[in-house]
Amino acid sequence: MSRALITGITGQDGSYLAELLLHRGYEVHGLIRRASTFNTQRLEHIYQDPHVEDTRLFLHYGDLADAGRLTNLVYEIQPDEIYNLGAQSHVRVSFDMPEYTGDVTGLGVARLLEAVRRSGIKTRYYQASSSELFGAAPPPQSESTPFMPQSPYAAAKLYAYWMTTNYRNAYNLFAVNGILFNHESPRRGETFVTRKITRAVARIRKGLQKKLYLGNLEARRDWGFAPEYVECMTLLLQHDTPEDVVIGTGESRSVREFVEESFSYAGLDWREHVEIDPRYFRPTEVDHLLADASKARRLLGWEPRVTFRELVRIMVDCDLAALGETPPGAGVHALRKKGFGWTANRITPG
Ligand code: NAP
Ligand code: GDD
Repeated sequence: MSRALITGITGQDGSYLAELLLHRGYEVHGLIRRASTFNTQRLEHIYQDPHVEDTRLFLHYGDLADAGRLTNLVYEIQPDEIYNLGAQSHVRVSFDMPEYTGDVTGLGVARLLEAVRRSGIKTRYYQASSSELFGAAPPPQSESTPFMPQSPYAAAKLYAYWMTTNYRNAYNLFAVNGILFNHESPRRGETFVTRKITRAVARIRKGLQKKLYLGNLEARRDWGFAPEYVECMTLLLQHDTPEDVVIGTGESRSVREFVEESFSYAGLDWREHVEIDPRYFRPTEVDHLLADASKARRLLGWEPRVTFRELVRIMVDCDLAALGETPPGAGVHALRKKGFGWTANRITPG
């Protein structure tokens, strides 16, 4: 039985990845932060009581800021694969907390890589790198596009990217960077723009709120469906050679288009509800991210299956269902049709 360690297991990607690996028969270990409230909502449907025989999901308290704990865990668990998904992952928040973001999102990677090196175990390491690395570089962006980070988050991810590359070259670790473009789902954090929009659409339909305040509507992103992207993470670790690879759909849309598509799907006119609040503008913006994922296609045979319109519909359907509203249903239908049998395929978020 293969054994995996996932940092960031409580996040959007971590929860999908845990689900996928359990489905494939792995023993899965996850790092979780101690909090005064439960932070494992996204894992509730796969949680197994550790007292029960045959349990394959184990959660361990720890933090990417705590090198000693990481070293102990890596040594004790001896994972075959490590997925480092933990991070302060919000770009806007990184302007408010640049030092903390650098510590967790950047230095956290050095701590984990050192833990691997010192433990001396043979493991494969996946680093959650980001299209934010490209920042101001004109689209489309591929593995050979120069990095031009535009935020403390991106600067921290840049350090993480190069540390991963360096440990691969210096110590012959199987360590790879998945340079993932934006990916979304019903489990997306509520303050990222897509989920903020689809959640507001559902609440407006239900009569719980009237207005949605947003920042820059003209930014363009290459938005894909998160479960497909965690499939890619596993493909990268199973490849014969360690490769850094860009993953994205090759299609970009503006925030405005996401708004229009979401509101119209729910039968609403977005102009009556959306207002601009400069509080959500960023000191430096990333205007346009668009993936050239030809290496992923060639190397991994990976093609995105869920379209932009389906993604929007999946998310709106789920947010409506979570409020007890009957969703139009096209998103749920797409989700079932596209073959994500390994996910719970639940139409409620989380
Ligand atoms: P997310 O939902 O924000 O999850 C982040 C995870 O990191 C959570 O489990 C969080 O724990 C954990 N975490 C935060 N600070 C930590 C710390 N100090 N120590 C240990 N764990 C900590 O992010 P996501 O969307 O799943 O993204 C996963 C990874 O991919 C992140 O590294 C992100 O930067 C990167 N990425 C994401 C995208 C995207 O579009 N989603 C694209 C490219 C790269 P709590 O639940 O306790 O907060
Ligand atoms: N969050 C947010 N809230 N973004 C807004 C808003 C708003 O009210 N209004 C407009 N936007 C714009 C942002 O300025 C940005 O241009 C775009 O919407 C997307 O913002 P986010 O959804 O916050 O995502 P991100 O692109 O900054 O970062 C995400 O993707 C990266 C990969 O490119 C995160 O998941 C990062 O962790 C990830 O690395």
